[in-house]
Amino acid sequence: MTHTYAVILAAGQGTRMKSKLYKVLHPVCGMPMVEHVARNIRQLDVAKTVTIVGHGAEKVKEQLGEMSEYALQEEQLGTAHAVQQAASMIEGLEGTTLVVCGDTPLIRPETMENLLAHHKETNAKATILTALADDPTGYGRIIRNEEGHVAKVIEQKDASAEEQQVKEINTGTYCFDNEALFTALKKVSNENAQGEYYLPDVIEILKNEGATISAYATDSFEETLGVNDRVALSQAENTMRARIAEKHMRAGVTIIDPATAFISAEAVIGADTVLQPNVMIEGATVIGEDCLIGPNSQIVDSRIGDGTTIHSSVVLQSTVGNETKVGPFAHIRPDSQLGDEVKIGNFVEVKKSELGNNSKVSHLSYIGDAHVGTNVNIGCGTITVNYDGKNKHLTTIEDDSFIGCNSNLIAPVTVGKGSYVAAGSTISKDVPEDSLAIARSRQENKEGYAKKINRK
Ligand code: UD1
Ligand code: CA
Repeated sequence: MTHTYAVILAAGQGTRMKSKLYKVLHPVCGMPMVEHVARNIRQLDVAKTVTIVGHGAEKVKEQLGEMSEYALQEEQLGTAHAVQQAASMIEGLEGTTLVVCGDTPLIRPETMENLLAHHKETNAKATILTALADDPTGYGRIIRNEEGHVAKVIEQKDASAEEQQVKEINTGTYCFDNEALFTALKKVSNENAQGEYYLPDVIEILKNEGATISAYATDSFEETLGVNDRVALSQAENTMRARIAEKHMRAGVTIIDPATAFISAEAVIGADTVLQPNVMIEGATVIGEDCLIGPNSQIVDSRIGDGTTIHSSVVLQSTVGNETKVGPFAHIRPDSQLGDEVKIGNFVEVKKSELGNNSKVSHLSYIGDAHVGTNVNIGCGTITVNYDGKNKHLTTIEDDSFIGCNSNLIAPVTVGKGSYVAAGSTISKDVPEDSLAIARSRQENKEGYAKKINRK
């Protein structure tokens, strides 16, 4: 049985990005380009994936982890030289090798599968994935002979004026007979405009040796976009964003304006959830069914239950239960856990705190480093005074308690189950269960005194 192997080219610096970040690590919809490529390849039946790393090698390896094996290209002498680095891992093996560039994040697994199928059907030694570009500038051009067969690929910088007119481009994705590939790689020279060893030269080498070369033309140039600079990066982002939005809409999510719904590639969203304009759903966020995510909400690496509303709010690395309401204008900071039927209202900040089912903080409060039980009502303007200038301390508010407006709870402190804290209190001692705590100065009324002042 012959296997399929994959090689991802990811060693380049990406000079045209003008960036401190290595090119293939630039994110598209929140995920580095090279990870999109690796994940797409993982959907195919591939026996071994080798990623060629060089610039930013450690970072690329860290990003892809066990999705791939790695070969180091110490000097970036061209795409053929890059593939050559995989020799110790796959040279001599019987099978087909798929080569994909780490800067083409939009090529779908289905397209790669079609390419592999075409390669097998045509019994070719090499099959190249091509596309028709309105503006082919920058891409290698496919030069076909009189019979219409691919004769060679010519790079933009080496192409004559006539060759530059050709609109059929090399997408940078290929299948090769693995043994033929490594034999031909040894014959590639660097006598060209860039002084590099070009992988596409393998096509011409094999052709001249009488091998069958095949081409598979995809009808979607958009999909084959190679991201060399920030303009292409934004185009990739737009295409990917539309694709992700479509996937969710087809699965039952309502997206009022897909153009402004920024959803990460990894996010999971349940059916009948509605996303209003300008939402950002980032990282590995999971949103349940029947939720309403209101305008200008940002949800990062969080888990949201079913039937919950998040309105114009920020939720970071937190968990929110079912039928809970957050916002408008709330800030849920990392490591918070909101239960079911919780209400967090406007101008409330919650940090590293737990709120049990049916507890409410409706307005203008700061809840930090707190354990709040179930059925607790926290009045407007309550502050957990968690920081003494050096350390953070815990506030515990047990079930069924009621915290009056404008209270300070000086941590560490516990308000026992079923207790009341009177409005305006500054609580610095624990409150026993079922108690009323009042910690404010008593009011004194001086009758008639106002008239005395007014007379002056
Ligand atoms: C390449 C192709 C071009 C094709 C285009 C499609 C060559 C010579 N040209 O051009 O025909 O139309 O892709 O997008 O192959 N890389 C390495 N090591 C190197 C050089 C490059 O790993 O020594 C990696 C890069 O990190 C990148 C990929 O190979 O992910 C492609 O390199 P890039 O410089 O972007 O090639 P293009 O000029 O776009
Ligand atoms: Ca490129």
